[in-house]
Amino acid sequence: MALERTISIIKPDAVAKNVIGEIYSRFEKAGLKVVAAKMKHLSRKEAEGFYAVHRERPFFNALVEFMTSGPVMIQVLEGEGAVLKNRELMGATNPKDAAPGTIRADFAESIDANAVHGSDSLENAAIEIAYFFSTTELCPR
Ligand code: TYD
Repeated sequence: MALERTISIIKPDAVAKNVIGEIYSRFEKAGLKVVAAKMKHLSRKEAEGFYAVHRERPFFNALVEFMTSGPVMIQVLEGEGAVLKNRELMGATNPKDAAPGTIRADFAESIDANAVHGSDSLENAAIEIAYFFSTTELCPR
């Protein structure tokens, strides 16, 4: 498996629950390293731009409202097969369907307030990393 980088966002619900450390611990136990991180309260424009692929979906406005409702913790994770590994740690989009022991099963309330975001492909990971971080903010490989 190749060394990859992916974006993880701890969403406003999980930040409010004070579980940033517990979620980081899961990344570390799975062999994923944090190579950049920032806490940020997203503006409406930033959230709309980040989720632009969902612009036509019925949940888009609610998603943007939620993502701007409080600070988020954004990190770049690095590791072997990091994109898929992070998605496995997260669990299914709807916490009701998320496997036991996953982040969403343990910390998410609902499909719209579902604790974490993770890039769904290597291609999107590169786009999402560039959306939030300049190259000088990333630890060198
Ligand atoms: P999506 O990319 O389908 O899921 P994932 O976060 O697992 O990659 O959707 C992006 C976010 O949009 C999702 O995390 C929560 C929100 N969302 C809803 O609020 N309602 C929905 O029905 C769906 C599919 C997503």
